[in-house]
Amino acid sequence: MIFNVCTIFPGIFKHLFSKGVLSKALEKGVISLNPVDLREFCEDKHEKTDDYQYGGGVGLVMKPEPIHRCVSSLAERGRVILLDPVGERFTQRAAERLSGYPALTFICGRYEGVDERVRELAADEAISVGDFILTGGEFAAAMIIDAVARLLPGVLGDSESLSEESFCGGLEYPHYTRPSEYMGLGVPEVLLGGNAAEIARWRENESLKRTAAYRADLFPAELVKKADENLKSALYNATRAAKGRKLKVALALMHYPMRDKQGDTVCSSITNMDLHDISRTAATFGAERFFVVTPIASQAAIAERVVSHWLKGWGSTYNSNRSEAFAKTEICASLGEAIACAEEIWGEKPFIAATSAKETGNISCRVLGNLAEKKPVLLLFGTGWGFHPSVLELADFILEPICGVGDFNHLSVRSAAALILERMTRAG
Ligand SMILES: C[S@@+](CC[C@H](N)C(=O)[O-])C[C@H]1O[C@@H](n2cnc3c(N)ncnc32)[C@H](O)[C@@H]1O
Repeated sequence: MIFNVCTIFPGIFKHLFSKGVLSKALEKGVISLNPVDLREFCEDKHEKTDDYQYGGGVGLVMKPEPIHRCVSSLAERGRVILLDPVGERFTQRAAERLSGYPALTFICGRYEGVDERVRELAADEAISVGDFILTGGEFAAAMIIDAVARLLPGVLGDSESLSEESFCGGLEYPHYTRPSEYMGLGVPEVLLGGNAAEIARWRENESLKRTAAYRADLFPAELVKKADENLKSALYNATRAAKGRKLKVALALMHYPMRDKQGDTVCSSITNMDLHDISRTAATFGAERFFVVTPIASQAAIAERVVSHWLKGWGSTYNSNRSEAFAKTEICASLGEAIACAEEIWGEKPFIAATSAKETGNISCRVLGNLAEKKPVLLLFGTGWGFHPSVLELADFILEPICGVGDFNHLSVRSAAALILERMTRAG
């Protein structure tokens, strides 16, 4: 397999693979490394590969022409990869996919990155090696070359297995070598006993435990079935322990100003189910308040009556956790009143995020959740046939809709509130 690397620093690759299995693979010709100097593709006498960016701002940008010419000059370029923090995240699966090409060509950025047109003109895909910024794409290319090359037949020795590694399911089990005791630390008995079946079972369980502890997101469902009963409960607890994060968030259920089917501005009715279920959702996800917004005094009185039944009346003795759920429910005459109340709680004006099944949305639940870790956010939930445009105008964000699998998308506001809060509070 050929690895071409388009770079202004080809020297970086001189000794990079001069040791270990990759050096042997290079010697045997299983892989070949071809660093190409981008400066050779400059047509000016100063061999300028970068320039100031249009629109101003600090930092230089790599010019498109030398990169485009360099890539075009390669006889065997295979798949062309732009190393870019904005690209698709590199994973073991991506390494497996890339190992199927006869050649890979890497475009290494420096400074602020490469001119955007390179993406379209010269690259087949863009890859990021992680959520951090490197000084140059050479280090990202080196990582990918290493991960891809070791998958090629003839690169690893027979003693090194590709099938039992981390990311081929869960994370790998722990390894030990001699001595059997070091600094007071021993080796698990089972590994010294020589019973192959027991060792295999122990390794499988250790792999499951580690995956549950460190990377529950990788947890392979088929492995859960194989786990023994003790481990099953440990796994269950590990998953349960993965609670959501506490956010600065409040909810407002808007009954006015709303639209009806005909597009007229209306005030919708309070419903008992919304009061109960959204209060419970708000309490479950640690929301600071649940505001119920209606300007109609008789409607507000119904809501007040329900809330006080569970907070102070017979309901509070019948079901104390329902009173806990209603403790943060507040009836407001207007959205302005709810915003003012939220501002008083947090000492700063909250960001307003309207939720909608219809709008395209300009922020995801995950990103809004990240924001709400630091800044207060008031989530607006609609009733009737959607918000009056004046509400949307007030909003700083429109949250992405919760999408189903088909065209039918008519969740109750109670369900939508629960799904949105679950998505927002999930770390990430
Ligand atoms: C300093 S970085 C530019 C960062 C860019 N201004 C940004 O904020 O996204 C210079 C070059 O290093 C490479 N690079 C940096 N971090 C990377 C990452 N996480 N994955 C892949 N390449 C990366 C890219 O080739 C990039 O063009």
